[in-house]
Amino acid sequence: MTQPDFSPAADRNKQVILDVLRKVLPESGKALEIASGTGQHVAWFAAGLPQWTWQPTDAMPTALDSIAAWVAEQGLRNVRPALVLDVMAPQWLPADAQFDLIYCANMLHISPWATCAALMQGSARHLADNGVLVTYGPYLEDGVATSEGNLSFDQSLRGQNPAWGIRRREDVEQEAARASLRLRARYAMPTNNLLLVWSGALHQP
Ligand SMILES: C[S@@+](CC[C@H](N)C(=O)[O-])C[C@H]1O[C@@H](n2cnc3c(N)ncnc32)[C@H](O)[C@@H]1O
Repeated sequence: MTQPDFSPAADRNKQVILDVLRKVLPESGKALEIASGTGQHVAWFAAGLPQWTWQPTDAMPTALDSIAAWVAEQGLRNVRPALVLDVMAPQWLPADAQFDLIYCANMLHISPWATCAALMQGSARHLADNGVLVTYGPYLEDGVATSEGNLSFDQSLRGQNPAWGIRRREDVEQEAARASLRLRARYAMPTNNLLLVWSGALHQP
């Protein structure tokens, strides 16, 4: 069995994110995770929200073994085998696949800006009427002083790849609106991150 990859950041933030998911989500449902990375988040959330079923995915085929290893280590039965899913693909999943939660953490700043429109459009296609998209990560916001930490993180991202960088929340909202999704809730999280909850017109809070 492959040794699971370990992200110290995912280990630090998994519980605070789960605490918000518990507030925001109903008791049970079907979740699609975009950009699962190591698989630490999906394993933690699936254990903490056992009435939910989880579909992890990542653009990188090399991520799948680590996700499977975390799921196996926890003995989880409510996580489906991880799939390769690049948000830029015109079709993500069968057209009738619907989810009550689409969750995407820490992808928008580590991928080209076009992934934001792709995330919003794909989520609009696959969210159930009452479903929510949850995004988590660092954002810049108009009228909110950017922390030193986020400024230097943004510079280091752009140094690694000029197409990367921390996104303006207002720009993300514009892409969401093009997909008929609206920002419903904003949670300030530790270390200058935000957890944002998005949904479509049919959503009943
Ligand atoms: C910083 S990691 C975040 C992993 C995990 N969500 C977390 O918060 O620990 C960014 C992830 O985004 C994935 N990613 C990048 N571009 C993507 C795309 N176009 N579609 C789906 N996933 C993508 C990468 O493969 C990587 O696993």
